Amino acid sequence: MTFYGGDELAAVYEDALDEGFGLVASNIAEPNTMMGLMEGASRVDSDLLLQMSAGACRFAGDGDAVSGLKAMGNYIEVMAERHDVGVFLNMDHQTDLDLIEAQMDLDIPSSIMIDASHEPFEENVATSREVVEMAEEKGSDVLIEAELGQIKGVEDEIESEEAFYTDPEQAVEFVEKTGCDLLAISVGTQHGVAKGKDLELRPDIARDVRDALDDHGLSTPLVLHGSSGLQDEQVEELMQYGICKMNKDTRYQYEYTRTAYDLYREHGDEIVPPEGVADDRDTFFEDTDWAPNKDVFDPRVAGRQIRERIADVHADLAELAGSAGKSKYA
Ligand code: 13P
Ligand code: ZN
Repeated sequence: MTFYGGDELAAVYEDALDEGFGLVASNIAEPNTMMGLMEGASRVDSDLLLQMSAGACRFAGDGDAVSGLKAMGNYIEVMAERHDVGVFLNMDHQTDLDLIEAQMDLDIPSSIMIDASHEPFEENVATSREVVEMAEEKGSDVLIEAELGQIKGVEDEIESEEAFYTDPEQAVEFVEKTGCDLLAISVGTQHGVAKGKDLELRPDIARDVRDALDDHGLSTPLVLHGSSGLQDEQVEELMQYGICKMNKDTRYQYEYTRTAYDLYREHGDEIVPPEGVADDRDTFFEDTDWAPNKDVFDPRVAGRQIRERIADVHADLAELAGSAGKSKYA
């Protein structure tokens, strides 16, 4: 059984902070990406942090977030047993306290992010604190991530037109007042399709937040959102400052679709009839000699290639973030 809770995840973050590495928190909404990630993490001996947004849970649950979480929670638990690394699940960008309570009661996630970063400081503190207290009252070991500052771009149902960089002194006050276990900061990364060269990155802010927290005896791991477009050197620079969780979603989404697209484009004439032949799916092309090729259109063919590609991408990212070779639960 290698699907673990908050206490085990906290121990990984402790090592990560001490040793200067991070987990690549990888978004999933369905099983192909999930299995590719498990394969990639196992291959390089890294613990694996999966994450699901509320929208991803609703997708997996055909419209119902709790059903989606239960279904994927079971799937993760069963498949994690087949791998020799620790597997964790974070609930990404949560805004609905009722849903957060349901997640805690189900005891499936290892950590939950409350995203009240769009609210003014005091409201953000109050909402984030409420979630921390909820976990305490329930005796749950789930870790709570909260965010200060705003990340530009679109991530699932969270959208911000502008970036608001995190203020280091405010970060100390925020962590002290909320008691959050992890702090997501804004240092110029963007959610969605973003190119590293276009970002106005402020690694100095990550450094100042880290220093300010350290000065106050706070060993809170930092979280970097919107990291899909970051170039390797940019990641390496940012990772120096106690960033122990680096979120990636858009990159895997692109790899998923691109892999399927390349396969179908290469074998298009085995899926779609040639020009001049009736596209008569209802009769399964009864009136022509042409027939589609099951060796290509069986969705498992694309699915296997997608898993393999996601595994390769995640293995490389785990090397970059330094979690490769560091599994605590191998
Ligand atoms: P990207 O989609 O830009 O990779 O960001 C992921 C993220 O921050 C999830 O919370
Ligand atoms: Zn994010």
